[in-house]
Amino acid sequence: MFGLTRARKTAATVVATAAAAASALLASPTASAAPQPIVGGTTTTTTAYPFMMQITDASQNQFCGGTLVAPKKVVTAAHCMVGETTSSVRVVGGRTYLNGTNGTVSRVSGIWINPDYTDATNGDDVAVLTLSTSMPYTTAKYVSSSQTSVYAAGTTARILGWGTTSENGGSSNQLRTATVPVVSDSGCRSSYGSDFVQSDMVCAGYTSGGVDTCQGDSGGPLLIGGVLAGITSWGEGCAEAGYPGVYTRLTTFSDLVTAQVGS
Ligand code: ARG
Repeated sequence: MFGLTRARKTAATVVATAAAAASALLASPTASAAPQPIVGGTTTTTTAYPFMMQITDASQNQFCGGTLVAPKKVVTAAHCMVGETTSSVRVVGGRTYLNGTNGTVSRVSGIWINPDYTDATNGDDVAVLTLSTSMPYTTAKYVSSSQTSVYAAGTTARILGWGTTSENGGSSNQLRTATVPVVSDSGCRSSYGSDFVQSDMVCAGYTSGGVDTCQGDSGGPLLIGGVLAGITSWGEGCAEAGYPGVYTRLTTFSDLVTAQVGS
């Protein structure tokens, strides 16, 4: 099959190396991508989205996003946590800029990775971090297992992140956001075939592309009606026509997340 940009967090330490790493991973099938802003939307702040967390390494270099759902609990992607340990990861809240030093930095005391997770294209891409320090920020609500109707095709969803602003580009120093429509399951299957696992994934994006999450946005939220309904997971390139972004279908994992949030 084609080179899916699944399951790889960016080595976001340095913009140049992140771009090089991203292009190495992307293996774009057409190699002619015009600049396509991920979050074709706009810059925003963690004041506007206080539950938006940076997941960083021990040096506070961001590599994924996460969503604060309780003062000490952060929902992110399983693929972001592969190879990480409680000592290798930090969570940073209240920091709009990657090069900022403000906000709250917490160590992580627990990493729960969905035990069924193998690869983002197989689904199960959810993890919950337990923080050592409470975050003094408003938490996000997340969908319950019964709220499956939130994914009706055409529903507007919001994406957020510091990821690359084009398929082979660099990360955004400032948090960005955009809105994208939810894509029907049949539409997503037309794009991705058997890599689309309907029970575990939901797609969002425009048919013509142009707005999407990209490398470094993984783990961050897909909000529907202001409620966490998806987790940035994977896609073919970024913002390509005919290839929407793929997000973890959180209703499927809501009860598992709740068990972790309560633990
Ligand atoms: N896997 C990427 C990450 O780790 C996210 C890719 C999202 N791709 C997309 N086309 N929506 O940051």
